[in-house]
Amino acid sequence: MASKGTVPEVTLKSGNARPMPAVGMGTAVFPVVHENTKNAVLAAIEVGYRHFDTASLYRTEEPLGDAVAEAVRRGLLRSRDEVFVTSKLWCTQCHPELVLPSLRETLQNLKMEYVDLYLIHWPVRMKPGPRTFPSKREDALPFDFEGVWRAMEECQRLGLARATGVSNFTTRHLEKLLAVATVPPAVNQVELNPVWQQRTLRDYCAARGVHVAAWSPLGGQNWGGKGNAVMESPELAEIAQARGKTIAQVSLRWIYEQGVTSIVKSYNKERLRQNLEIFDWELTEEDRVKISQIPQKKLVQFEALFLPDGEFTSVDPAEMNIEEE
Ligand SMILES: NC(=O)c1ccc[n+]([C@@H]2O[C@H](COP(=O)([O-])OP(=O)(O)OC[C@H]3O[C@@H](n4cnc5c(N)ncnc54)[C@H](OP(=O)(O)O)[C@@H]3O)[C@@H](O)[C@H]2O)c1
Repeated sequence: MASKGTVPEVTLKSGNARPMPAVGMGTAVFPVVHENTKNAVLAAIEVGYRHFDTASLYRTEEPLGDAVAEAVRRGLLRSRDEVFVTSKLWCTQCHPELVLPSLRETLQNLKMEYVDLYLIHWPVRMKPGPRTFPSKREDALPFDFEGVWRAMEECQRLGLARATGVSNFTTRHLEKLLAVATVPPAVNQVELNPVWQQRTLRDYCAARGVHVAAWSPLGGQNWGGKGNAVMESPELAEIAQARGKTIAQVSLRWIYEQGVTSIVKSYNKERLRQNLEIFDWELTEEDRVKISQIPQKKLVQFEALFLPDGEFTSVDPAEMNIEEE
């Protein structure tokens, strides 16, 4: 990774996006309060973030766009081109004819002419309609890898997305996509942290030039009320104490050392700042060995997208499984 300012950047191997800063700010929050998201993004810009992650599902595109425009007005940014912005195509829009209209809606929300990166949010297709979460199991349809990817390629050809990629894809999904892709995906954004290290997927992506980005790099926002295996990890706590760092910093530093970009959410200026202070120190070999031995546990399964009752009538659920063997 090359370094520009305090945050190193990675040049993506597909598309023509500007280099991606190695730590990005996640914006997903529930419920969304426009001013809170806007102010958090402005605070992030002030402390040095130049990479932002949103999705049509999150409903944070509008406040993110407003914050970037405000930052330009205030002179915190010279122009929108100084930030790397990612958004994502939701499952109900994963139909070839809905991809471009969906990106145009995203750009309208962001009030931007292009996104730096546009991702297929999940390898899951649902019946067309409003963006629902969770959805009915009966609404799941077989994924159209070729049709949807052709439409993603068209978004890039039109210059509306500088690069395109995927999210929550396993090696099995990537295999199917790469078999039909003319332009390979630049990024795969997946759940990844010291408690879910994704070694198989990382090796597969590295061999094919697909950059990996990590969501829930700190173990997430306790959506399911199951606690937080990263922030409660005794191994990480021990390393943090020995290094005089926080558990969050140890987790983000470890991810950075794996060549992976972290997408980390904080709406708190002090924690936003803390999460960028990971580039001027290193873990020791002993720390790395200790982290490699942490018991592995995945936080989110694809079933989280669906209501608990009902049936998968048109699709084999195994096709949507996102847990790599
Ligand atoms: N592609 C996908 O399917 C997918 C799925 C999930 C998430 N994402 C993206 O990834 C982003 C990050 O994931 P996430 O939000 O699930 O989880 P995360 O970034 O692992 O954790 C966020 C939580 O950690 C807290 N936090 C942040 N910095 C901290 C620090 N230094 N010390 C202690 N606590 C800290 C935050 O609270 P405060 O705000 O109070 O600091 C928040 O509750 C999302 O916002 C979204 O953009 C993508």
